[in-house]
Amino acid sequence: MSDTFLNVDGLNTFYGKSHILHDVGLKVNKGELVALLGLNGAGKTTTLRSILGLTRPRDGEITFDGTSIIGRAPYRIARLGVGYVPEGRRMFAALSVLENLQLAENGRGGEWSIARVLEHLPKLKELVGRRAGRLSGGEQEMLAIGRALVSNPQLLLVDEPSQGLAPMIVEEVYRILAELKARGVAIVLVEQNALLALKIADRAYVMDAGRIVYHGEAATLLADRKLIADLMGLTASELAS
Ligand SMILES: Nc1ncnc2c1ncn2[C@@H]1O[C@H](COP(=O)(O)OP(=O)(O)O)[C@@H](O)[C@H]1O
Ligand SMILES: [Mg+2]
Repeated sequence: MSDTFLNVDGLNTFYGKSHILHDVGLKVNKGELVALLGLNGAGKTTTLRSILGLTRPRDGEITFDGTSIIGRAPYRIARLGVGYVPEGRRMFAALSVLENLQLAENGRGGEWSIARVLEHLPKLKELVGRRAGRLSGGEQEMLAIGRALVSNPQLLLVDEPSQGLAPMIVEEVYRILAELKARGVAIVLVEQNALLALKIADRAYVMDAGRIVYHGEAATLLADRKLIADLMGLTASELAS
């Protein structure tokens, strides 16, 4: 038996007639943090949406913890223990922080109660009564992570958590992701900022134009910036910025 927790194989996903994902495959082992890198438009979000059942792949195979989940409804996939922190954070702007967390609870039970989540995200705890629509970008990201946690995921798919955030807040978000990993949550971390993600990832996949063009150990990739820049179609200075 291997440790493969999430196995994605030969995924082809379309939006209408546009063929977006071409034979995408990736694996996540138990407790592993896997970075999914690539430029804007590479197909990262579509890959997450395909795994979550939000966009139905035309063909391919997806198994989670030994169960085939391809073609299942998103709520059923979520119930198996797959959490999602979407790009752009998407929350109920008119509801308070606490109400957003209450709506996300799904009764599976587990380690992460709302009280526990708030203990781990003290900044959010101070804001429980505030309307989500009045939170800063960083606060919204914390809420998006908190919301995913109260569903007690065993696998968390996180889409561009650093987008639009000040460096100090990005550090805080990454500290939380590292802590989740230390607690055994497997994570797929989608980032355009490759260097940031590679620093906490175990392994990485790079996408370009809907295809996986590279996969390997994060440390190997981190040690070879020219390779990262080549894979992502960037110059070395664009990569560093
Ligand atoms: N709802 C949609 N309808 C049609 N095309 C889309 C839709 N969403 C994304 N695309 C296209 O699919 C490709 C991959 O997009 P996406 O998965 O969002 O990339 P990434 O997350 O890597 O930036 C892009 O060419 C994008 O324009
Ligand atoms: Mg995206």
